[in-house]
Amino acid sequence: MDTATLPGGLRGDYAGARADFTLAPGAMRFSAADDATWRLLHRRQTALLPGRAATPLRDGLARLPFGAGVPDFAHTSAVLGAATGWSIVPVPGLIPDHAFFDHLAERRFPVTNWIRRAEELDYIVEPDIFHDAFGHVPLLMQPEFAGFLRAYGRLGQQAARIGALAPLARLYWFMVEFGLIEEDGDLRAYGAGILSSAAEMRHAVEQLGVRRLRFDLSRVLRTAYAIDDLQPTYFVIRDFAELFGAMRLLPALLPLARDAEPFPPGAAAPGDVEL
Ligand SMILES: [Fe+2]
Repeated sequence: MDTATLPGGLRGDYAGARADFTLAPGAMRFSAADDATWRLLHRRQTALLPGRAATPLRDGLARLPFGAGVPDFAHTSAVLGAATGWSIVPVPGLIPDHAFFDHLAERRFPVTNWIRRAEELDYIVEPDIFHDAFGHVPLLMQPEFAGFLRAYGRLGQQAARIGALAPLARLYWFMVEFGLIEEDGDLRAYGAGILSSAAEMRHAVEQLGVRRLRFDLSRVLRTAYAIDDLQPTYFVIRDFAELFGAMRLLPALLPLARDAEPFPPGAAAPGDVEL
């Protein structure tokens, strides 16, 4: 197993993972305290969704078995599979790009097999099961978003071959983790990094002075991001069909973005349409 490309000091049990970085179902053991942490986070974030989170996401969440404690992987996969053909697989945490792309291309979403400690409720460095499951899985119930993420996985290996992983990662960052969408003239959040963070939720949708730009794929691919602060820039899609449709332009735009100077985090750029 090649963990050389991962950051050091990760918390998960990588020695127990298989070659594709998944863990055996027996690795899914959560305590009563873990369930209590999940329920607290779930209750807190769910209360923030009305008026802030996208409707398809709230619909997806309502159909998933997420309310009672840390969700069961088999049950969640069954619900997800019936909706869009996706499943979730347990992993120790962040996994290398090549393994991540392969899972997405096969409609498997990797979900971390541990939950944050009580003292980390508001901020955690590595993604945990609350971020991965509560943040990402509800939208995988939406067919066009699920199609987008599968296409992303399929293009990942190609991007790696041409040295374009940095622009590809920006697409994931702005569209999967921090995406906003228009809904009846209002802005709503759908990105997992927003949904799993109370502070980012309010900031993304309500904070004045934040740059909210009309989605433009080439601009997204060229926009650098900061990972340790609330986002200064968000991109807004009209609907998930727009995002899925943009993927056909990606093979042509990736080499251009790779060769261009990125725009600094939060900076304006020519052609920006602010909303
Ligand atoms: Fe994430």
